[in-house]
Amino acid sequence: EKGDYRHFMQKEIFEQPTVVAQTLRSYLRPGEQRVALPQMDFDITAINRITLVACGTSYYAGLVAKYWFEQFARVPVDIDFASEFRYREPILPEGGLALFISQSGETADTLAALRHCREQGQTIAAVVNVPTSSMAREADLLLPTHAGPEIGVASTKAFTCQLAVLAALAAHFAVKKGLMDREEEAEVVEHLLEAPACLNAALDHDEEIKEMAHLIAPARDVLYLGRGADFPLALEGALKLKEISYIHAEGYASGEMKHGPIALIDDKVPVITLAPSGPLFEKTVSNMQEVQARGGQVVLISDRKGIEAAGEGCMATIEMPKVHPLIAPLVYAVPVQLLAYHVAVAKGTDVDQPRNLAKSVTVE
Ligand code: F6R
Repeated sequence: EKGDYRHFMQKEIFEQPTVVAQTLRSYLRPGEQRVALPQMDFDITAINRITLVACGTSYYAGLVAKYWFEQFARVPVDIDFASEFRYREPILPEGGLALFISQSGETADTLAALRHCREQGQTIAAVVNVPTSSMAREADLLLPTHAGPEIGVASTKAFTCQLAVLAALAAHFAVKKGLMDREEEAEVVEHLLEAPACLNAALDHDEEIKEMAHLIAPARDVLYLGRGADFPLALEGALKLKEISYIHAEGYASGEMKHGPIALIDDKVPVITLAPSGPLFEKTVSNMQEVQARGGQVVLISDRKGIEAAGEGCMATIEMPKVHPLIAPLVYAVPVQLLAYHVAVAKGTDVDQPRNLAKSVTVE
């Protein structure tokens, strides 16, 4: 079943160009350069707030989507971990949309949050990978990811497929609200359709990332930095590393470093910086340089232009293709997944079945 791959996680990382393309096919009409969401039996333009609820990696996909919903559709997003949401007596707006994201569709806290929102009269949408799951059945609007079965406990391909669906949904919302004209919609569709090729280009760096795993494997702590829609990728990178290599890792919004975490920096803490070229590049790099000035050992993940501008003095660099900022979170998921994977393999951990973890968390 694993074919030529050593682990399911590795196979699933490499499936991403195919499954993201597959997922995009059901949410875009490439010929007409339009987004095409399933029929909705509610008026999306009347939605004045989105409540987004998920756990773990699915939560990080939601955090990326918050940037998109707010930027494109100008709709405020309230996002929370399902385990917090359930018990904090959230204030739900009249006529609000509650959006749940889950690979398995069975995560106990997320499912309970969904049922709570249903009782509160919210419209329920769910981005789910397992089509026969409870969440898939109970949603008013089901937005399936077409990632196929995900076996590795660490979620990889489900995450990038969730991002693909959420980007299409945010664009659809913006179009319906009259905030995105035909030309802008065509551009978004074009950029999304570039994602599979860019994911392939990112995967081409597998060998190089494998070779740098020995730089990270001995570390006790690792930090990940990112900004804007790439900040959740820093959180996701840290989660991946923690769960399969058992190295303590934290993700931070790069602008937060100086508010505390920079005190952790010495030459033994690798700092993985996600900084694609774009409007936030300079800001992220300046935070990275503050880390370097304190002896921090940086791995810069950027495109050629970014690496030329800021790669000097880094412990290592990983060159990504040049991508539009919209698809950067999808493409930059690949190097963080591969880095975690190769560090775990170097450490000899059980990559597909990390200790203490289950694929589907059906208890609270
Ligand atoms: C991390 C991981 C978990 C899941 C989380 C939610 O790699 O796999 O953090 O993302 O348990 O699971 P789902 O998406 O099935 O609700």
